Amino acid sequence: MEIKINERKIKNSLEVIFIIKKNLQHPFIKEKALLKKMGFKGEQDEIFFDPHNDRLYVGVTSFEHSDFRSAAAVAARDARTKEHYNSLRIATYTQKKSDMGSMQGIIEGLLLGNYSFTTYKSKSKKDTLKKIYISQKDYSKNIVAKKELERVINEAMILAEAVNKTRDIINTPPDDCYPKILADIAKDTAKKCNLECTILEQKEIKKENMGALLAVARASRHEPRVIHLAHTPKNVKKKVILVGKGLTYDSGGLSLKPSDFMTTMKSDKSGGSAIIGIMQAISKLNLPIEVHGFVGAVENMIGGDAYKPDDVLISKSGKTIEVKNTDAEGRLVLADVLTYAQQEVKADYIFDLATLTGACVVALGEYTSGIMGFGERPKKLLKKASLKSGEMSAELPFNRHLAKLLKSEIADICNISSSRYGGAITAGLFLSNFIEEKNKNKWCHIDIAGPAFVQHAWGENPYGASGAGVRLIVSLLKDLTR
Ligand code: BES
Ligand code: ZN
Ligand code: ZN
Repeated sequence: MEIKINERKIKNSLEVIFIIKKNLQHPFIKEKALLKKMGFKGEQDEIFFDPHNDRLYVGVTSFEHSDFRSAAAVAARDARTKEHYNSLRIATYTQKKSDMGSMQGIIEGLLLGNYSFTTYKSKSKKDTLKKIYISQKDYSKNIVAKKELERVINEAMILAEAVNKTRDIINTPPDDCYPKILADIAKDTAKKCNLECTILEQKEIKKENMGALLAVARASRHEPRVIHLAHTPKNVKKKVILVGKGLTYDSGGLSLKPSDFMTTMKSDKSGGSAIIGIMQAISKLNLPIEVHGFVGAVENMIGGDAYKPDDVLISKSGKTIEVKNTDAEGRLVLADVLTYAQQEVKADYIFDLATLTGACVVALGEYTSGIMGFGERPKKLLKKASLKSGEMSAELPFNRHLAKLLKSEIADICNISSSRYGGAITAGLFLSNFIEEKNKNKWCHIDIAGPAFVQHAWGENPYGASGAGVRLIVSLLKDLTR
């Protein structure tokens, strides 16, 4: 989709008009009587289509960027179904002259809401919406500088492209996106975005003694990969490590998942895919910060060669792990990649993104990511980024009692807790055992199991992968450069 600043009326264009705080008297609204007659209230995300005047009205409850993002996405999704129109027209909506947050929300929302995954449709419908025209007529009669508007458009485009690319990777079926393919996508991204890229193949992974990751990978016909992408501009003040869970499929292994739980497990690569999207975005945004993105790309399968409950694995860190459930595989992969990342890079902050536990979805619902860690600083950064990006998150607090539940009689640690409660936190605590002492307060774990894959469209997310984590982390990294 192309975005242009343009004042003229254009053929086959649908005008999107936001109705803010149910103010149906605003001069932007031409059909006041009609809207009233049709019972339109202007609730958040409520839409009304006026075909005679080529207008689409959408309700927004406040000037908050997240409300605009959601409403704009709903408008784009609706406009897609009206094939007559090949472009959208919108005015600018600002509350204060200097605050472009709502415009950022609108543009992101339009681009994210217009997404659909059609690669596997044999009769793929062409995208009808090709352009967005923005006029500088402002809802609050503010004068919005063209330069400023251009900057916001450019940033929103980069961000939405990164999110939609992440969605494409995750939505790709597991037999077409296995570890080697994920590594190829990373290489290709590196080439296009001027990133450094190192890929460890099976042989190198063995040399690195990643016994936990290798055990998970063993039964698959697809060999694992460890991906390292780096964005290293000169004269930076901060260095950040990102680690993503890249399970290209999670069948559960010998602790096999029931069928209903296995579908959608192509999305177990969401954390790793988000890392690729994030690296693309920060390089295109030219962020003055050094970022190292690591992905553990593995497929968890069954077979004669599968790792088993009762096995004891020797992780890269040297710690031994008693396997009690092969479906708790993400933490095994992350344990080794976190260890590797900390040995490769000395960083100020470490974040990992993972679809780690169903328990996190039970705790917080499908719309919110879980944040866990010891250090207050990284948690604070995440909370701020969460508000800025519109990606919801909440802290799940660690405590020493839960930590004890990972004790093993025969090894250093178990891969699952002895209690059936608090599973998201015990998974986070398991990972904390692989964070070096000096890094304990620099690290946060983000469980994206809830929002990563969308069953019923919500907010700016159509069906399928949401790209959770991309906007959140890019916003955090941007904040670190200020
Ligand atoms: N990938 C799953 C977690 C998951 C569940 C992600 C639902 C998205 C939606 C993970 O590998 C897993 O299977 N975790 C187990 C852990 C348990 C065995 C301790 C779970 O959550 O059931
Ligand atoms: Zn699993
Ligand atoms: Zn998993």
